[in-house]
Formats: sequence, C-alpha cells, structure tokens
Amino acid sequence: MNKKHYLTLALALAMAGTAHADPTPDWGDKISEKEFLEAAKRSFYLNDPKEFDRLRDETLEVCNATKNRPSAEQTKAILEREQKTIVYPKDGKLYGDWKKGKIVVEDAHGGRIGYPGFADADNPKHPNGANCYACHAIDPNFPQAGNMGPPLTNYGKLRPKTDAMVKYTYDKVYNSKATNPCSLMPRYGGPKHLITPEQVADVVAFLLDPDSPVNNPPVTTK
Ligand code: HEC
Repeated sequence: MNKKHYLTLALALAMAGTAHADPTPDWGDKISEKEFLEAAKRSFYLNDPKEFDRLRDETLEVCNATKNRPSAEQTKAILEREQKTIVYPKDGKLYGDWKKGKIVVEDAHGGRIGYPGFADADNPKHPNGANCYACHAIDPNFPQAGNMGPPLTNYGKLRPKTDAMVKYTYDKVYNSKATNPCSLMPRYGGPKHLITPEQVADVVAFLLDPDSPVNNPPVTTK
C-alpha cells in the first residue's frame, strides 16, 4: 500500500470506530460499587484514611444515582440541606476586598486528595485557593481559563448593583448546590469548608467591584 492507501484505511477505521462508539459508556457491570469503593479507599495512603470520608456525600449520592436529574422531592431536600451549610462572615459583610479575592480566585493550592492539611482554610499559614479559572474565564488578563462554567468577565457590569445580587453571588460561591441541586461547581464554603466566609466575601467583591479587572476588560481594536 502507498501512503494514500494507508490514509484511506486509517480514515475508514476511524469512521467505523466512531459509528459504533457509545457516547455514554455504561461501566455498571464492569466493576461493582463495592470493588470501586475498596480500590478508592486503598488509594488514600498518604493521610489518615478518614480523609476518604469527605467523599461520602448525601447530595452527590442522589445526583449520581439520578444522573443529575433528581426528582422534585429530592431537589427540595438537597436545596434545603445545602442552604443550611451557608455561613456568613462574622461582621455580616458579604462584600469584601476585591484585591484579596483576586488572589483566592487565581490560587490553585489546597483541597487535594492526599494533600496534608487539606481542610486548613482557617490556618493563615496554609490558606486554600479556589482555582476558579479551571472552569471560568473571569479576568481577561489571566492567561488561561476553562469553559465548564459560564464566562464571568464583566460579571459586575452586566448585573444590577443590589444587595440581592451580592447575596446571590455569595451563596453561589459558598455553596453552588444551594441554588442548583447537581451543579458541577465545587461547594467552596460548605459543607467541606475549602475557603473561609471572609474569602468568599473577597471573591464576591472581585466579581462585582467596578474597579476589579473583571469589569474592566482591555479595549481591543480591530
Ligand atoms: C469545576 C468547575 C467550576 C469551578 C472550579 C468553578 N465553577 Fe463557577 N460554575 C460552574 C458551573 C458549571 C456553573 C453553572 C451552573 C451553576 O450555576 O451552578 C457555574 C456558575 C457560577 C456562577 C453563576 C453565574 C451566573 O451567571 O449566575 C458564579 C458567580 C460562579 N460560578 C463563580 C465561580 C467562582 C468565583 C469560582 C471560584 C471560587 C468558581 N465559580 C469555580 C463551574 C465551576
């Protein structure tokens, strides 16, 4: 066969492969839940095996079992449970310092499996970050961003400057599942306590403040 023939064969094989590929493979009968949990538990060798317990979560169990389509009743139970985890800063201010928020949003430290002291959000020597750019475009000056979540550039510019918007944003960042039962966004405050209420308030300011780079994207000319 010459080069062209190889190419045709490769294309035909690729097409045959895609024609039969199931877009949502069902692994159900390949490994039992018990086997999976045992294998997952074995992989937590660095720290206290109790760390594994943080993966057990009533809300996620319902979301997994229903493929993220909980019934109306299950949705109500999830929203109520998750709402209860939300804690506000002691001084009652849900709107902090955008400059500090910028650091939290960019920082990808902490909250990792096997990372010693994963739940040390209150320890000023090892504060956790939020790594929001893994999923969102936010400050357009930041070099890269994921797109699992909606772009948040101009977040404050596009929304009314009201207390309700500040509270909505605080609650969303603190616990995304308090408004959207099977949201793919991590719950930064409760129930796992990855960042502090004060850090959440700083992130809120970063998203909403008129002086934040989020709301001042560079002007581009064509
Ligand atoms: C793993 C991906 C992921 C990460 C990391 C993530 N988000 Fe999200 N975010 C999402 C998804 C998906 C949505 C849309 C679904 C929803 O609203 O729950 C969302 C929605 C939002 C919304 C609501 C937008 C609107 O218009 O109402 C805000 C605000 C937000 N995220 C802020 C943040 C901030 C701030 C961080 C970091 C502290 C962050 N997100 C980290 C995935 C993520």
